[in-house]
Amino acid sequence: MKIVIQSNKMFKLFCLSILSLLIVNCGKVKNSSSSDGGSVVGTAEFVSAREIIASKCLSCHSAWSSYSSDDYVKKGLVFKGSPANSSLYTRIRGNDVGVAGDMPTGQPNLSLTEIKEIKAWISSL
Ligand code: HEC
Repeated sequence: MKIVIQSNKMFKLFCLSILSLLIVNCGKVKNSSSSDGGSVVGTAEFVSAREIIASKCLSCHSAWSSYSSDDYVKKGLVFKGSPANSSLYTRIRGNDVGVAGDMPTGQPNLSLTEIKEIKAWISSL
């Protein structure tokens, strides 16, 4: 009888640990189908923004290809929670706000949807 109770406890413990693992991983999305073929790990917001960066920016900014969300912050391209202070955001708004060095250089501006997705990622940090 005692053994039954104990293994029941073990089972509960096991379930709890699985549950906490699930909770910890919640909000992280692994996407292995980004356009440059690499796998991108991060929040849903980062994964969407990264898709745009991969198709519109990496051709010139190839150094960014392995950047995690945090790396953009460390390199000073993104200022957590503030798109207005993030050059990665202000530079893509380009001619719309009269910022010099409209990105992507020599190519059409990003669409409003693309700009919004990059903004959503930076705001989420
Ligand atoms: C056709 C090539 C090209 C593309 C595509 C391009 N860039 Fe750039 N980018 C440059 C060059 C060249 C510079 C350096 C000169 C300057 O600052 O204007 C630069 C500089 C920058 C800077 C200044 C910060 C720094 O030190 O790197 C930011 C931010 C930036 N680009 C963002 C972007 C983003 C975001 C995209 C994609 C939406 C993009 N660029 C696409 C060529 C490109």
